[in-house]
Amino acid sequence: SATSTPKRGAFILLEGVDRCGKTTQVSLLVKHLLSLSIAAVAYRFPDRTTQVGGLINEYLQSSVQTDDRAIHLLFSANRWEAAPKLVDTLARGTNIVCDRYAYSGVAFTSAKRAEDRSSMSGGELTLDWCMSSDVGLPAPDAVIFLDLDQDEAEKRGGYGGERYEKRELQMRVRQRFAELQSIDEKQGRIPWHVVDASQSVEEVQARIAGIVSNIIERVQTDTAQLGRMWG
Ligand code: TMP
Repeated sequence: SATSTPKRGAFILLEGVDRCGKTTQVSLLVKHLLSLSIAAVAYRFPDRTTQVGGLINEYLQSSVQTDDRAIHLLFSANRWEAAPKLVDTLARGTNIVCDRYAYSGVAFTSAKRAEDRSSMSGGELTLDWCMSSDVGLPAPDAVIFLDLDQDEAEKRGGYGGERYEKRELQMRVRQRFAELQSIDEKQGRIPWHVVDASQSVEEVQARIAGIVSNIIERVQTDTAQLGRMWG
């Protein structure tokens, strides 16, 4: 009926290691949805346009030693500051296609090794510690993980100059993502779809489009409430 509340949008998250093609696929997916007259908007984290995001940007582009926990909390704060708008966007019926989120936050921080770290606070950056600052954030309806092994990633051209663009770290990041996938699978709330990102842009795009049409359908037929991260 005319008085029924509009269906909420789906929160679709693309994650993966650096150079897996996430950013390209996020923009192709948004265009694809819009071409079908499905309301969609791209989000990305870190969102470097805010004040917090400006600090993150400076950190990523410098080699100045900064406490790893403080940086981790900035990345997390950058998601929390976006959360109200994100929730509102979904409530208005617009789908969100998001480039990185809390999984990147945990995977990157927890992949740092004690010997690489300058942190005064020392100690291991455990998965649990890293996850805790994101507990309660709006949860994606699904994670689409673009999987690419390290050799393939490096074939795509050298990394840029940002501080995380190093082989050893990237390999540990990929491992952390796998751990986060298995945590979500045990909880049984946030489904993961792993896509082989070594295929052509078109093949990856087609695979993602198929997955996403199912996600959107599920969110619209379910009376699915938006979930919360890791609660
Ligand atoms: P970008 O290349 O997608 O802009 O991301 C910049 C870097 O920030 C990338 O190496 C991944 C890293 N990152 C974190 O360390 N923590 C986070 O929470 C996020 C979202 C990204």
